[in-house]
Amino acid sequence: MFKHIGVVGAGLMGSEIALVFALAGRRVKLNDSDPKLLDESVNRLERVLQKGIDRELYAADAIQVVLPRIQLCTTLKDYSDCDLVVEAVYEDERVKSNVFKELDRIVSDECIIASNTSSISITTLASQVSEVRRARFIGTHFFSPVSKMRLVEVIPGLDTDGSIIEEVMSECRDIGKTPIEVKDVVGFAVNRLLHAMMIEATRLVEEGVATPEDIDVACRLGLGHPIGPFQLMDATQISLSLQVQEILCAAYGDRFKPRPIMKQMVGAGYNGKRSGRGWYKT
Ligand SMILES: NC(=O)c1ccc[n+]([C@@H]2O[C@H](COP(=O)([O-])OP(=O)(O)OC[C@H]3O[C@@H](n4cnc5c(N)ncnc54)[C@H](O)[C@@H]3O)[C@@H](O)[C@H]2O)c1
Repeated sequence: MFKHIGVVGAGLMGSEIALVFALAGRRVKLNDSDPKLLDESVNRLERVLQKGIDRELYAADAIQVVLPRIQLCTTLKDYSDCDLVVEAVYEDERVKSNVFKELDRIVSDECIIASNTSSISITTLASQVSEVRRARFIGTHFFSPVSKMRLVEVIPGLDTDGSIIEEVMSECRDIGKTPIEVKDVVGFAVNRLLHAMMIEATRLVEEGVATPEDIDVACRLGLGHPIGPFQLMDATQISLSLQVQEILCAAYGDRFKPRPIMKQMVGAGYNGKRSGRGWYKT
């Protein structure tokens, strides 16, 4: 069990990753390069706790008890006593590399460094830290919203030690998550599954086989999914799905080639819920 956790990046993912560790009783340090976003992350976490998290572990008085366990830090220098640091900054290899180089200088030799990247190779990211640290470098791919989604894909790099995989899997279980070990391949496991389905769903619409609404109904009522693929694309922005599919296509070829209608929609600004129009009109 780890006592002191560090999280770098207080955005959508990082702030809730900090929260799930704090909910499980860990002392957490949370850093963001933008101090304004760091403050905003606390407001976001208050809202998440107010809405309630449907697990026994999380008491009603969580705001008073849990949030004080999260210390906001404006510098990574405060991370020297961390046992585990999870990075959740922008999905940009250069930005992440700079964070890892700095962390490697600051944290103790025992500290494990994990990345929440969704598309960059863990082995590539691990090459930014010293050779000895690479045994203690790993991927921990959480899912959004982190306070609700139980899965964590745990991804060892080429040099990750077997005992570190075990330690990280065990810590994930301790904080109420269900980890699965996945090889360091592009898209890991879940994004490959998800986008194969999204592409086929889009093809069905292009062929006029069924409407987006009806395919969403089919997935909810026929397959037991909590949300259909078109609702999901609208909620998370269609441009993000397109970007992931382009990465998967570059790695695996035409089976992940984004459908033309997605490019047309993104080009026209029909990007989903936030832009008022996507597969659905809001
Ligand atoms: N959004 C998702 O559904 C999702 C799911 C799984 C994994 N991921 C991955 O998690 C990571 C974070 O995604 P997000 O959606 O939370 O992004 P986000 O844009 O909401 O948050 C990123 C945060 O990192 C901060 N940041 C940038 N550079 C920094 C630096 N050098 N030091 C400290 N903070 C820095 C930014 O200010 C921002 O607050 C990405 O790698 C993404 O691919 C995202």
